Formats: sequence, C-alpha cells, structure tokens
Amino acid sequence: MAGPRSVKQQLVLFLSFLTILACFVLPAVSVKHENFKTCSQSGFCKRNRAYADEAIASGSNWKPPYELDPSTVELKNGYLHGIVSKTIKSGEKIRLPLTVSFLESGAARVVLDEEKRIKGDIELRHGSNIRKERYNEAEKWAIVGGLAPNKAAVFSPESETGYTKVQYGPENQYLMVLRHAPLEISFQRDGETHVKLNDRGFLNLEHWRPKVDAPEGETTPEDESTWWEESFGGNTDSKPKGPESVALDITFPGYEHVYGIPEHADSMSLRETRGGSGNHEDPYRLYNSDVFEYELNSPMTLYGAIPFMQAHRKNSSVGVFWLNAAETWIDIVKAKSTSNPLSLGLSGKKTTQTHWFSESGQLDVFVFLGPNPQALSKTYGELTGYTQLPQQFAIAYHQCRWNYVTDEDVKEVDRRFDRYQIPYDVIWLDIEYTDGKKYFTWDPMTFPDPKGMQDQLDASERKLVAIIDPHLKNENGYPIIDELKGKDLGIKNKDGNIYDGWCWPGSSHWVDCFNPAAISWWKSLYSYDKFKGTFHNTFIWNDMNEPSVFNGPETTMPKDNIHYGNWEHRDVHNINGMTVVNATFQGLVERKKGQLQRPFVLTRSFYAGTQRMGAMWTGDNQAEWGHLAMSMPMVLNQGIAGFPFAGADVGGFFGNPDKDLLVRWYQTGIWYPFFRAHAHIDTRRREPYLTGEPFMQIISQAIRLRYQLLPAWYTAFHEASVSGIPIVRPQYYIHPEDEHGFAMDDQFYLGSTGILVKPVVAKDQDSVDIYLSDNEKYYDYFDYTIYQGSRKWHKVPAPLDKVPVLMQGGHVIPRKDRPRRSSGLMRWDPYTLVVVLDENGSADGTLYVDDGEGYDYEKGGYIHRQFIFVDSTFVSEDIGTKGPKTDAYLKSMADVRIEKIVVIGAPAEWEQKETVTVIEDGAKEATKAVLQFTGSKNGKAAFAVVKNPNVGIGKSWKIEF
Ligand SMILES: *[C@@H]1O[C@H](CO)[C@@H](O)[C@H](O)[C@H]1NC(C)=O
Ligand SMILES: *[C@@H]1O[C@H](CO)[C@@H](O)[C@H](O)[C@H]1NC(C)=O
Ligand SMILES: *[C@@H]1O[C@H](CO)[C@@H](O)[C@H](O)[C@H]1NC(C)=O
Repeated sequence: MAGPRSVKQQLVLFLSFLTILACFVLPAVSVKHENFKTCSQSGFCKRNRAYADEAIASGSNWKPPYELDPSTVELKNGYLHGIVSKTIKSGEKIRLPLTVSFLESGAARVVLDEEKRIKGDIELRHGSNIRKERYNEAEKWAIVGGLAPNKAAVFSPESETGYTKVQYGPENQYLMVLRHAPLEISFQRDGETHVKLNDRGFLNLEHWRPKVDAPEGETTPEDESTWWEESFGGNTDSKPKGPESVALDITFPGYEHVYGIPEHADSMSLRETRGGSGNHEDPYRLYNSDVFEYELNSPMTLYGAIPFMQAHRKNSSVGVFWLNAAETWIDIVKAKSTSNPLSLGLSGKKTTQTHWFSESGQLDVFVFLGPNPQALSKTYGELTGYTQLPQQFAIAYHQCRWNYVTDEDVKEVDRRFDRYQIPYDVIWLDIEYTDGKKYFTWDPMTFPDPKGMQDQLDASERKLVAIIDPHLKNENGYPIIDELKGKDLGIKNKDGNIYDGWCWPGSSHWVDCFNPAAISWWKSLYSYDKFKGTFHNTFIWNDMNEPSVFNGPETTMPKDNIHYGNWEHRDVHNINGMTVVNATFQGLVERKKGQLQRPFVLTRSFYAGTQRMGAMWTGDNQAEWGHLAMSMPMVLNQGIAGFPFAGADVGGFFGNPDKDLLVRWYQTGIWYPFFRAHAHIDTRRREPYLTGEPFMQIISQAIRLRYQLLPAWYTAFHEASVSGIPIVRPQYYIHPEDEHGFAMDDQFYLGSTGILVKPVVAKDQDSVDIYLSDNEKYYDYFDYTIYQGSRKWHKVPAPLDKVPVLMQGGHVIPRKDRPRRSSGLMRWDPYTLVVVLDENGSADGTLYVDDGEGYDYEKGGYIHRQFIFVDSTFVSEDIGTKGPKTDAYLKSMADVRIEKIVVIGAPAEWEQKETVTVIEDGAKEATKAVLQFTGSKNGKAAFAVVKNPNVGIGKSWKIEF
C-alpha cells in the first residue's frame, strides 16, 4: 500500500533527487530507465500486446468477439448508431453502443462505449465514489469546432449482406464499409480503401467485471495480476474501476510512412516497434512525463502528447486522431502490401499497421481521408483549433537561462546585448526569481525592483517572461496556498484529501484546472494588482505541468488521484497540463480591463489543442550534437501534429556546448518557430556576446537573419493560424509525389516562401548535401549560386560562418533589412522584396502584417498582400477582407514603404535597362526608379536591384520592368 509518506521519507527523496540532479551536469549520463515503465511493466500495455500476439499466432482461427447487430443500426442526420456486442467466455454478450459521426469536413468519428458503465450499473472497489462511466470529456477540452454532421450521408445503394455501407464526405465521394461480424470498419476514397479499423482483430474493450477471488489454493483462469491494482517503483495504483483499457488496430494499406504522435525524441517518419534491426522494442508511449536526460532515437514518452497520426504515400495522405487522455501506447509494424486489384498501381511497397491502446476512457477515433497533408492539417485544426497568432515579439529571439539572478543581472544582460549590437526581444526568469519558490511573488533580496527592470526593457520594446508552475508551496502564510485550500481548488488524493507531493518548493499542492472555479481563480492571479511587479510587457512560462512530482510514480501524479467531477487522474492525465496553460492564457487576456493584447505562454506539457494557447519547447535537452540533430525532426513532427509553434533549447539545457556546437545551434535555432536559448543553472554563462570572435559575429549574423526574415515568419504564422499548415514544412508537404523525400527530416521549407534550409548538425562538417526534388532553379540565399536538377543531391558549402539556405525559384520573399535592437523597433521600417524568378520568369508570394500585439486584426486591422511577378511586371494585390478597422490600420501604415526590390535570375536583356516604371494606385502619374543589373558569373545568378521604388506596403501598385 502506498500510504502517505512521512515528511522524513519525503525529504530523503527530495534530497536524493537533488543529488541526482547534480549528477546531470556531467556529460554522457542518460535517462533513468528504471524510473519509467516499459510496456511489459504496464499492465494494460502488456495485456494488449499479448492479445495481439495471440491473434497473430491463431491466424485464421482467430475469432474476434465483436459484432454489430444489424437490426440496431440506424442512420440519421449524419450519425449512425448501433449496438456492438462482445461475446465473452461465459457466452454472455456485453453491449457496447457504437456511434459513427460523418462530419461536414469529411472526417468520420467512431465512438464505442460500454452500456453498463454508462448506466452506472457497476460496483467500484475500495468504496470509491469516483465516476463510473468511461471518461467521455476529452472532447470538452480538446475540441473547439468541426463537429457539424454531414446530414447528407446516406446508405450506399450497393448493399451486400453482412455489411453496412454509408456514402459521406465531399459530394458523398467517401464510403464507409462496416462489416458486421467480426466487426471491421474501412474507409474508402476514390474506390480505394485507405484506413481500416480492426482489420487484424485487435479491438479490445475491457468490459467491467466484479473481482471474484479464486478459491484458496487456486489461481484465477486469466492472469489478473494487473487488473485490480498495480505497483511500480514502490507506488501502488489502486484501480477502483478494475481493468478498463481500450485498444484497436488501425491499418493504412499501401502507406509506407506514418508521422506525428509527438512527443518523442525520434525520427519524423516513425519506426516499427516490434523489434528487429533498426526498430524499437517498445511501442511509442504517450504519458506526459518529466523525463530527465531523455535519450535519443527512443519511443519513450516525453512531456507532451498529441495522438494525431498522418500516413503518407505517393500523392495521398490520410490520418487518424485518437481522442483519449489516458496513458496510451502505439505499436507500428510495416508489412508487405498485399496486391489490391483496386489500387490502380498507386500503392506503396508497404502497408503500415498500427495498434493503439489506452488505459481507460471511451474508444474515440477520427478518420481523415486527406487527400493531402495540407487537407489533414486543416481538418484536424478545425477540430482542435489552429495555432494562436502570436505577438510579433514571440517569434523573435528569446534569451533565457536558469537563472538571471537579480534584477541588476537582467539589466546588465540587456545592456550588453545593446553594447554588442545583438538583437533580442525577450529575457526570461526561471524559478529563482520567486520568494522561496512561491509563485506570484518576487524574492525581495534579489528582485527588489521589478518595475525598474521592466521599464528598462520596455524602453527598447523588450519583454520579460516569468515562470509560474502549477505546484504551489504548502507553507503557512502563503496567501495563494491559503486560497487554494480555502476554496478547495486542489487536486485530491484517492481518499478525497488535498494531494501533497514534492516539487521545487518541497511539499506542494496542485491546482485542478479541470474545475471551472479553479480556472477562474487561476486567471485572477495574473491581474496586475494581484501579481504585483508585472506589467504589460510581462508574459508567462508554465513548466512542470505534466505534472512533474518528484516523489510520484514515474515522476508524476498517482493515477488514482481525483479531479473535479470525480474523474480519476488516470483518465485525464495527458490533458492536465493543457488546462493550466489555458487558464494562464485566459488570465493574461483578462489581466487588465480595456487592454487588449495577445497573451504569450510557453508550456512544456501539451495535448491536442494546446496550439491554441501558445508555444512549446522540447524540454531538457543536452548540449550535444545528437540533441541538436534531433531537434529538427521533433519540431517538424510538432508541425505535422498541428502544434507548430515549437522549438528546442538553443545551446542545449544540460552541459556546456563547445563554441562550434553553440554556433551551429544558433544557425539551426533561427529556423525553429520558437527560438529561445536556455541553459541549466550549473552551466557556464553563454550569452552570445560572451563567445568571443569569430563566434560572436557569426551568432549575431544568424540572429539578424532571423530578424531580417521576420515578415516571412509572421506570414507563415498567419497561415498556420488560419489553415493549420506547419510553419516549417517537411519535404513531403511540399513534394508529396516524391518518395525520396518522405522520410527526410533534416531539411525543410519555411512557410510558403520557397526557402529551403539544411542546417549543419554535426561536428567539423563544412558542407551539406541538399536534396532538390523539383526541376526548379534554387539559389543560394547569400550569393545566388544556382543549383538545379530534380531528384538530385547538391553539395552546398557550409563553413562555420554559413547556414545552408536556398531559395526556390517562383517565390517573393518579404524582408526587413535594417538591423535593430528588437522587433518592436522595426515596426515602421521599410521592406525589401526578394523576387526569385522561376524557369518562366514568374514568381509570387504573400505578406501578412498587423500591429503584432492586439486583436484589431480580427476586425480587419491588417494588411494582406499578394505579390505577382509575371511578364516583366510586378504587382501587389490586396487579398485581405475589409473590416471596421481596416482603414485606420492602413492609414497608420501609410509611411511604411518598400525600399528595395531584388530580382534574382534577372533576364540578361535587363543589362540595357536603367529604370523601371512605377505606378502606385491613386498616384497622379507614373514615376521611375533606378534599376541596377549584375550579370551572371561563376555559377551565380544574374540579379537586379530596384532602389527605392517608394511604393506603400499597404497599397496596390504595379512596376513595369
Ligand atoms: C501526383 O501528383 C502530381 C503533382 O500534383 C501530379 O502531377 C500527378 O499526376 C499525380 N499522380 C497521380 C498518379 O495521381
Ligand atoms: C479554457 O478556459 C475557459 C474559461 O476561461 C474554459 O471555458 C475552457 O473550457 C478551458 N479550456 C481548456 C482546454 O482548459
Ligand atoms: C512554365 O511554363 C510551362 C509552360 O506553360 C509550364 O508547363 C510550367 O509548369 C511552368 N513552370 C512553372 C514553374 O510554373
């Protein structure tokens, strides 16, 4: 029994934790495997794998016990209802209500629940008074739209006995084929099956049963050792509801690659998990945890979980979203494709077979039929929401370490960035700024003057981010803990008393943001008069929200803890972190009446939907080349899974990076959507200005490159915020027909700009091989060297001072070229447009601009332009919609002009040209601007520069070359 620990025991644990922590700064220590379960140590994981093994071993003798009773089936208004029965050994039939919803978006949703538990017709063990149902509220937290049913869904005229078929989706072009016995559901597009559920018969919904003790001296017929309670690492989980896992196999016929289901430190294209060379032994695990010193190339769980998977093959993408917040494991194997007469020769060489199992909750799975990655991003985003459009500063450079130790220290760092002319936007405070780890307070000795500090930052439009964690110090006289207890807003233990565990402050309680009253309270804590010393330029970092509990099982909370609504922690674990971030986000929206600025919150823990609330980072990585290399696949998979505002600690959290590693990390980090340097308390200071020459100059240049491209980044964020498309895009998003690129996760494109990057992530490497999929011309970003040739590798030089960046022909890239101290100071700066001509002498691109901080953009207060270069004419067209704030915004931007246009791949005949003709909308007459032409030589493209065309960024105009 895991009774409450004595204070002494807790202290010992805490001290041993500190000792462990101290060891982490030594190089080459690795994750404590013994702290985290393997599949065979997790009862339901082991049971479901064994179930699958039995099915496979039985071959055609396997009789899956689930069937649909056709007489119960009805289809109405886009919903199909029926009763599935599970026949158990005694012959009894367990009733499982099935609902398939056909959604307007073209997605289909399959929900299977258990009638006895729904009706509460079960007995709980240990006299528990938790809820009897399977958890059915994940939707409430994760889903914000996209559930409108497609009422036009109809039974298909081509009926077949033993099957129910429904036409649905766009113009009813999709077909769901439901086989009654054994139950199998498959989904077709264009006459071809793309997704199959229970094709292998691994469906397993552990029905409720009473615990029957075997007579003395006998064993139970089934292995019940993990059914009624389960121990790990000295903690016992009491399991009042008994075994209740849900499992399903999902097959993607002809699909060789699957992606997503972050967070794992692994390749973007997921590996097989059932052993064999190059494969994992364990399934990918999703159970938000604080994994110290995490290891690379591993299916181990990390801090966040998004159970959304994409499958891709030549010219087709499909996906599934497994809406379940409990501990989840996913097995993946790839089988030879069986020849399919309907496949029209499109099938890949392999079929990916997946097997999903969660410890509790309903079976709830969404099936998306693509047909391409963009459509998947969009449909998934309709359900869980799109990336919040952040403030402009949030996509600039963030300077963090554990810890800037005093307010004077912060001010000195700020001054030194200026002295060395290195731009940055945000400086961060880790836990040491608080008074004794009591959040919402300042240490009066070290931070006596938060206002003076923030005034200095504000003078150059810089911001402060302060950490606030959800564990609250259990100390008498700390008003916040008194309120938490007084209002009864904490997470409870299994006995219904407030849960007490160890975290940074020692003995702590945790706010339960599943409780609406706790959300309101947590929000209120951020108002300026409550959290004294914070101002309009203070933003928040929520860390440790998995939640991390130093003395808890697997460094988190006991699963039999109890949340608001009498749900067990087991049911909601993976959503827990998101509820805290959400409450913080809402708190920042409301912290001052009349002040409407967009919040910024960074979170470590996340679930499907957290993209609506801020940014994530990949947690406590290490100052090693391998961690640098792994950061890109991790960031790309975040984008694939709908949460693209992602980054890794630049420089590596644990350890001291060598100078070359630090340089390469900055050159990579400038391509993370979330770009922050961070370091452990025991590392040496490594702010860019401390690195010495030539490193400091090289790092400054890299950071300036990020700032120069902020207009392109902001435009890419805007696209993500309306369509869900990743901000940095993997090769298969851009070239979905080129199989060579499907597993590529070390080169990527920035938004729709055609900028293709392959950072150097290995020591002593002075060139990279970039793969070009299409036959377009690509140009080196800095010197315009031409690379051309489809389906070929090209060697691009990459000495230490160079990031390999190419520009694909056919794009217009917006930039701001004047170096400044912060992005805020660039607001009124003029633009440069880089026109990268394609083989036909054409190019296009877009630009999105708004005030970068408020919500006027929701009322039309923005500029959205399309630039088109065709037939020697360059035009800017409005693609924005008008709103009540449009005119005022355009007026405020009237003086923001274009100061330079660079045309790359300029035709040779422009050599004779000295001017171009500029016609701005509303101008009385055309004007001339000077053109300077530089011919092609030494493999470098010809280019032309138009100086000061003097057209407005918010205006329509035409320039004739
Ligand atoms: C695949 O997509 C490419 C590019 O969109 C297209 O040209 C080609 O026809 C498609 N191939 C098939 C077999 O659909
Ligand atoms: C976010 O907070 C709002 C209240 O401000 C609440 O209605 C909503 O359910 C919360 N969502 C999540 C995911 O916590
Ligand atoms: C160039 O023009 C040809 C002929 O119109 C067309 O087939 C090709 O797709 C064009 N290339 C690009 C990159 O638009």
